[in-house]
Amino acid sequence: MLQVQQVFKEINGRQILKDINFSIEDGGSLAIVGESGSGKSTLAQLIMALKQPTSGQIIFNGRNLPSKGIKSYKAWYRDIQIIFQNTASTLNPSMSLFQCLEEPLINFTNLNRTERKNRILEYLGKVGLREDLLRNRPGKLSGGQYQRACLAKALMMNPKLLICDEVVSNLDIVLQQQMIELLMSIQKEQGLSLLFITHDLSLVPGLCTDILVMKDGKKVEQFNTTDLHHERERDAYTITLLKSTEMLETAWKKYL
Ligand SMILES: Nc1ncnc2c1ncn2[C@@H]1O[C@H](COP(=O)(O)OP(=O)(O)O)[C@@H](O)[C@H]1O
Ligand SMILES: [Mg+2]
Repeated sequence: MLQVQQVFKEINGRQILKDINFSIEDGGSLAIVGESGSGKSTLAQLIMALKQPTSGQIIFNGRNLPSKGIKSYKAWYRDIQIIFQNTASTLNPSMSLFQCLEEPLINFTNLNRTERKNRILEYLGKVGLREDLLRNRPGKLSGGQYQRACLAKALMMNPKLLICDEVVSNLDIVLQQQMIELLMSIQKEQGLSLLFITHDLSLVPGLCTDILVMKDGKKVEQFNTTDLHHERERDAYTITLLKSTEMLETAWKKYL
């Protein structure tokens, strides 16, 4: 469904992405893992058509990434949804949560008022948020509630591909786990494809079937998640990432 082929991206004379290649099948789940600054968010922005690659191709369901023309952008944005780590700007702070969630339904669907309300309530329930929160401004939501509201906003559009860019990085461990479990159940239930971007390799097992490791804008390797612990087959860099998360887990356990 998504094919990224020989993608390069140069910003201000610097190569941020160098020859990135991968694909995601219908209903597939791929994690992109790498340290901060390795180019993960830039890649997500390219797939969202927020930036254009310097060279290479991004193909989604047989269509090329739109370069201009609002009509093709509309379809692209409906089918591919993204949620970010820094979600504070996703929901308009001056609107109620209901208005925030209704806005994309007004702009991108033909649903009438009642259908929009029903859609919002359905997805609010799916992400485990109470209905009375809809009257509040987004600023009143806790970090975990805010992240769930963003997830509801993305899922309401019935996307074929959901991109999650560091979505649990701001949450504490318990909320991280809840959010991961929510993503797992929603992915199964809706059969959507998932591109899960994280610097934290320990979040991936259980959620994604495949892992692509990135370093300095380059793909280090890609493998099946079940092969993560086959150390002899893994690149030395992947092992370093793995070891650092294991160290973190040991450190966490002291506090649990
Ligand atoms: N608009 C921009 N202008 C200049 N440099 C940028 C821009 N966007 C990203 N970069 C650089 O690209 C590199 C990769 O950034 P990013 O894609 O955000 O990485 P990651 O999400 O893996 O942390 C970083 O070195 C960053 O400074
Ligand atoms: Mg990033």
